[in-house]
Amino acid sequence: TAEAEQREGRAQAGRFEVRARDAETDARCGVLQTAHGPVHTPVFMPVGTQATVKGMTPRELEELRIEIILGNTYHLSERPGAEVIERLGGLHAFMGWNGAILTDSGGYQVFSLASLREVTEDGVRFRSHVDGAERFLGPDEAMEIQRRLGSDIAMAFDECPPDPSDRDYTCKAVQRTLDWAVRCARAPRAEGQIVFGIVQGGIFSDLREECAGRLADLGFDGYAIGGVSVGEGEELITRGVEDTARHLPPHRPRYLMGVGDPAQIVDAVARGVDMFDCVMPTRLARNGTVMTRRGRYPVKAGRFRTDPAPLEEECGCEVCARFSRAYIRHLFNTNEMLGPRLVTEHNLQVYGRLQEEMRTHIEAGTYASFARSFAAEYRGVRD
Ligand code: GUN
Ligand code: ZN
Repeated sequence: TAEAEQREGRAQAGRFEVRARDAETDARCGVLQTAHGPVHTPVFMPVGTQATVKGMTPRELEELRIEIILGNTYHLSERPGAEVIERLGGLHAFMGWNGAILTDSGGYQVFSLASLREVTEDGVRFRSHVDGAERFLGPDEAMEIQRRLGSDIAMAFDECPPDPSDRDYTCKAVQRTLDWAVRCARAPRAEGQIVFGIVQGGIFSDLREECAGRLADLGFDGYAIGGVSVGEGEELITRGVEDTARHLPPHRPRYLMGVGDPAQIVDAVARGVDMFDCVMPTRLARNGTVMTRRGRYPVKAGRFRTDPAPLEEECGCEVCARFSRAYIRHLFNTNEMLGPRLVTEHNLQVYGRLQEEMRTHIEAGTYASFARSFAAEYRGVRD
């Protein structure tokens, strides 16, 4: 029964089984157990900041065989508030989604969205981007909100230093992130909730190594690579991932936060990363940018006015099976809400197919050649 399954899920939560390793790279396939079911890795988690993956119903997400989505502590605590969601039975019941949910802790969002007032050893005083009022968020508050939300995976509260940040500042941010991680590791949790620590360290390899080692000593259920793709450029992103991933416990899931582009995902998986999230597929979809196995293009372009082809010839998703580019272009040009919905569904399907393909190649031990041909065929931007 569903109830017995959930009981079992809570009891098993946090188990991570690596089921296959690639022969040449550090890529692996695994299964992470959560209170709301197993999550097969490598996995891309669609972003549902405001308790909705914009434009998609939970039924549509299920049909795409999505096992886990992301929510945001900061946004949900602003609106409608953690108390409201708790009263309505937690985030899963509130949004009608029975799969797994990972919540980001709010550290990153407060540093990037709100106007900062003061950072202390207890957290961050800031002005809300919603009503301008003063608020305080720190490790204790972030864990308490995530407990009330009842997410399956809670993230530790961290400080992500902006790029560029000098060594001195980055060092202080790492120290604060580690102090906060101790408090997050000990904080009360929802039943079956697991907690991931977040590695910071900016572009400084030794700081990342030290941060990873100290977090590992705290025994988190998983580890995130934070503070990458904050403007430092492609090469430094790769180095940040590499410098962090190899210092993380091999038997625990590794999560690269906020990345992103299919080519970056394929590369990071080869370096041993298991989990990803990014607004890219859903955000691009809303402005009419179609993602494909080879790159992306704007479906609003005039050249598609009479194009009978699907969004992507080889896709085979429900959208591509039924609708032409000409029709979807028309929906965008007339501001019909179905346009963004259809492109969102297709773009998410592109990530779904990519993760399947990566798993197949890892199991076959052919990930290295797959990654090479993917990089050769994929263009981030194409029109
Ligand atoms: N999302 C993208 N990067 C980060 C990060 O460094 N920390 C947190 N908490 N969330 C993120
Ligand atoms: Zn499609």
